[in-house]
Amino acid sequence: MASHGTALTGKVAFITGGASGIGAALSEALAAAGADVWIADRQVETAENVAQRLRSTGANAHAVALDIRDAAAFEAAIAETVRTSGRIDFLFNNAGIGIGGEVDALTLEDWTDIIDVNLRGVVHGVQAAYPTMIAQGSGHIVNTASMAGLITTSAQAGYAATKHAVVALSKTLRVEAAAHGVQVSVLCPGVVRTPILSGGEYGRNRTLSRESLIKLGEALRPIEPDQFASAALRGVLRNQAIIVVPRWWKALWYLERLSPTLSMKTAAVALKRTRDVASAPLQ
Ligand SMILES: NC(=O)c1ccc[n+]([C@@H]2O[C@H](COP(=O)([O-])OP(=O)(O)OC[C@H]3O[C@@H](n4cnc5c(N)ncnc54)[C@H](O)[C@@H]3O)[C@@H](O)[C@H]2O)c1
Repeated sequence: MASHGTALTGKVAFITGGASGIGAALSEALAAAGADVWIADRQVETAENVAQRLRSTGANAHAVALDIRDAAAFEAAIAETVRTSGRIDFLFNNAGIGIGGEVDALTLEDWTDIIDVNLRGVVHGVQAAYPTMIAQGSGHIVNTASMAGLITTSAQAGYAATKHAVVALSKTLRVEAAAHGVQVSVLCPGVVRTPILSGGEYGRNRTLSRESLIKLGEALRPIEPDQFASAALRGVLRNQAIIVVPRWWKALWYLERLSPTLSMKTAAVALKRTRDVASAPLQ
């Protein structure tokens, strides 16, 4: 991570979902590069463990108890960060959940939950940090969406809808924020080996077992969270707008733009595979 060192030394970064997976890896990479990291998560103890581990390496790391669904709590957490560290340079709106299943299996509660975390949670982060960044005349908001926010997927309509919304929010905000000296990027991970692949702490799947989800995830050649974080931070430091990691997923994004019809056919093939796995007898 040494290559990110100079650009990130002394910068203040707030990372939601920092207790696990991609968020923990981003926190670690940022801390290793000399940033002051604020690790916010609903899993408070795990966030504290990550912060303690980073502090033991000499890093400046703090754990923050935060449920991003609570706008007032998000605002208070950012205010506390700015009070203590004097500023906020990066907001990583990364926390998210996965709720899978075909639309006829999803409940209204599923829709509410996924919108509240994956979309409203990101909005709360922007509302909390953007005014301070505007006042500073600098800052970088990095939202974690997904390839599911760029292409047609199947059996995850709620998730895909929120991730498309996060991509749209990020692109619009980027255009507006430039005049204030504020940068905006959106991360679109392909598949990264984290707990979310089998539902995560707060997610669920209406049709597939955890074992089947892991099997399907592994078939998509997941990369490790630290590999993801390193490549993602390179893109962030270059102020790229839409950061796709691993890069080979870009082929599917090109296909989506070239021919939405073909992209939907690809999603239909994936859906057939999902249905086959769902109906296969347990071994
Ligand atoms: N892993 C992948 O393959 C992949 C692919 C595309 C996008 N993503 C996105 O990356 C982001 C990080 O996911 P991950 O893969 O590291 O999963 P993860 O389950 O390891 O981490 C998600 C973290 O978010 C936290 N969180 C969930 N709801 C929260 C809430 N309401 N308030 C505060 N924290 C909350 C969890 O406690 C957890 O620590 C998510 O937005 C996810 O949608 C992941």
